[in-house]
Amino acid sequence: MINLTVNGTKVSVPVEGDMPLLWVIRDVLGMTGTKFGCGIGQCGACTVHVDGEPRRSCLTPVSNVADSAITTIEGIGATKSGKAVQDAWLGLEVVQCGYCQSGQIMTAAAIIDMIPEPTDTDIDQGMSGNICRCGTYVRIREAVKQAAK
Ligand code: FES
Repeated sequence: MINLTVNGTKVSVPVEGDMPLLWVIRDVLGMTGTKFGCGIGQCGACTVHVDGEPRRSCLTPVSNVADSAITTIEGIGATKSGKAVQDAWLGLEVVQCGYCQSGQIMTAAAIIDMIPEPTDTDIDQGMSGNICRCGTYVRIREAVKQAAK
């Protein structure tokens, strides 16, 4: 049994410690907002926050985060930066197919937390690990800037 704190709620999950956090979030806890894209750390679709830092949940053994605060897309709206990012995403209609967007939003919120007034370069570098096959990058950059205001 592994004890976790997810979006402020303590849970105990009956899994092996080497199970990826992504599997625990989606398949054990039933929170499907965090997406499986590549499963090998390349696409960013599975991004969550661990103690406020963006983390690829597909590459994170659940035992590594047992004493950490995990935030998913279901909980990020309760944070100041997460709410600002989600509002900007809606206002600028960033989403196309939507599959990668929860990961994009998690990374964007982390950027704003780290850099209150990010430049285009800060945003492009910070978001570079999150792939969008629809090519929404220009709208993403604008939304991050708007959310940071
Ligand atoms: Fe984790 Fe692609 S699913 S980086």
